[in-house]
Amino acid sequence: MSKVIAIDGPAASGKSTVAKAVAEALHIAYVNTGSLYRAVALAAQRAGIPLETIPEGFLKTLRLTYRPDDSGKYELELDGAFPGAELRTAEVAAGASRVAAQPAVREFLLGVQRGFAGERLIVMEGRDIGTVIFPDAEYKFFVTATPEERARRRLAQAGEVPDGATLAEVARSIAERDRQDSCRPIAPLKPAPDAEIIDTTGMTIPEVVAAILRRVGADSTQRRS
Ligand code: CDP
Repeated sequence: MSKVIAIDGPAASGKSTVAKAVAEALHIAYVNTGSLYRAVALAAQRAGIPLETIPEGFLKTLRLTYRPDDSGKYELELDGAFPGAELRTAEVAAGASRVAAQPAVREFLLGVQRGFAGERLIVMEGRDIGTVIFPDAEYKFFVTATPEERARRRLAQAGEVPDGATLAEVARSIAERDRQDSCRPIAPLKPAPDAEIIDTTGMTIPEVVAAILRRVGADSTQRRS
């Protein structure tokens, strides 16, 4: 069994905030795998490579590493620098979803992601952690919310939507990403059969975090007794 708490779910479901808080509460590492797909899209955009078909040769030139930032949190470094806010723009999010449908990209990033598992429990967040990357993860959660609620949450995140964007526009771009992520033939977004599904509509972040910690904590108590 892989020592991983897998937290999957659709765009703007609150999974990053929840995953980070769970990792902090347990004093363990947190890996946001969406950053990897975003970094591939950003690097291709910078290099002027069309996002439709990312060449394998280009992927091999990318240096993707996680390093502690000034506050000690692990952040993705692309070619020796933290891309930071550049990774979080709506344009890069849309690009990430396009490159994420390509087998060569997923194959390349599969190896990168599996390399994180080790002796110590980690929190890993994404779309296919419980289904493809670590089907044998110790804990699996699928965090979701209604499309309307997710659009509201995304609109409230500064820097992640274009200036002056309306709720309807944000809802449309999230719906488009949901469609791309769920309909792709490889590693489509869907809950693992053994994942605990948490519909966070109407729940606060601390409530979701508590639900996950209860489950993880309860399990470790049972194992100790
Ligand atoms: O933060 P948000 O949920 O909006 O997006 P993200 O987690 O950063 O992921 C950006 C895009 O990367 C998604 O729309 C997916 O297309 C892709 N992705 C994926 O295919 N598999 C993952 N494990 C993580 C992200």
